[in-house]
Amino acid sequence: MGRRQRLISTSILRAIFRTKTKDTKNPGLLARILAFFSIFQLTLSRYREELFKKLRNETWQIDEEEYTESFRSPSHGKRTDLVAVGDLGYSGSTFFTTPNSKYLLKSLPRQFEQSFFRLRLLDPYVEHMELNETSLLVRITDLLYTPQTTLGAILGAAPSHHIVMENILYGKSSCGKDDQKKWETYDLKPNDYFFPERDVMGGRLAPESVKERLIDEFPDKVRVSVDEKEELIAQLSRDTKILQDANAVDYSLFLVRYPASMTHADGGDVPVPAGRQSSWRNGVQSQDKWVYRAVLLDFFWAKDALQAKTLTGLVKAFNFLKVGKDHGPMSITTTSDEYRQRFLKMVDAIVEVPDSAGRPSGELREPVIKSMDHLIDIGEV
Ligand SMILES: *[C@@H]1O[C@H](CO)[C@@H](O)[C@H](O)[C@H]1NC(C)=O
Ligand SMILES: *[C@@H]1O[C@H](CO)[C@@H](O)[C@H](O)[C@H]1NC(C)=O
Repeated sequence: MGRRQRLISTSILRAIFRTKTKDTKNPGLLARILAFFSIFQLTLSRYREELFKKLRNETWQIDEEEYTESFRSPSHGKRTDLVAVGDLGYSGSTFFTTPNSKYLLKSLPRQFEQSFFRLRLLDPYVEHMELNETSLLVRITDLLYTPQTTLGAILGAAPSHHIVMENILYGKSSCGKDDQKKWETYDLKPNDYFFPERDVMGGRLAPESVKERLIDEFPDKVRVSVDEKEELIAQLSRDTKILQDANAVDYSLFLVRYPASMTHADGGDVPVPAGRQSSWRNGVQSQDKWVYRAVLLDFFWAKDALQAKTLTGLVKAFNFLKVGKDHGPMSITTTSDEYRQRFLKMVDAIVEVPDSAGRPSGELREPVIKSMDHLIDIGEV
């Protein structure tokens, strides 16, 4: 881990382990000046600490002590560095996991993502999570931010916002080395869209490996029962409704699968993510013996903010150069309800209901699609 990442990790851990005292609430002038000039090591605080604590405790039933312990080294019970999981060059996001890999930390590098989440989405998100125990919006357990303006944040040297969220890949690291390779992940978006950032900035600026990750396509079908499919689509419909209402676009379905025969290194079942259980988090076993997990990710891009900000120039340049003419509509010129419909259609297309002989069945598929269209039509979802 590089120096920059180590300093970011230290900032995060300080915020998690800091107990409220007078001097953190009311730092002196010298402390404020020093904090301003720190470049990489920003002073982070928990945003709306009580709100997130209530979500963890009441809504998701995450034991507070276990949560805090997740940020310590399992062997020494001491503080340790977070585990860096690569810097996805294209977005400038940093990713870490906690040492026990139960939680994932992701930076929100762009100011419009930060303010969108804090000011617009957070309240509806919390209300929705309280009302929908099986929601598949990823569980965000903390938001860390820099309450004070700092030079590092202005220069963009270190991210000023990080979200802590459940890690849907939890359990992978406790499988044997060979078994770990059998885990597959897909970050899925309606693929008929043209994503300028992915297709251009990704193409030019990011290494090949990053680019590959960005154009995920799922080459198979998720084969589950009619009830499981309906439950999944109904839940995603409810979840994407609040995203649509907040004008969010560009979110993705994060799909994970591993062979159902796989077990934990000690022979037990693969452990499931922390907190209140839900079927698509624990893993749904498909009829062709995969275990699938799914959550909704990356819902921090509001259509309006997106268009108003940095990418506008890029899109104009594209239209001018006609680079993107063979692509579908651009995700950033779409509306949030159109994005949602395409997103749900995408999910509908990859989840298949085989008949009892294991063949895909046209008879069973049709009513499910109809029921989805119906739900969308009557605005039920
Ligand atoms: C939630 O908080 C209450 C009060 O502090 C505590 O009794 C309860 O055990 C907590 N629940 C979980 C799941 O940690
Ligand atoms: C899910 O949350 C929405 C608010 O976002 C609420 O209107 C709805 O009743 C909830 N659905 C269920 C099944 O609880």
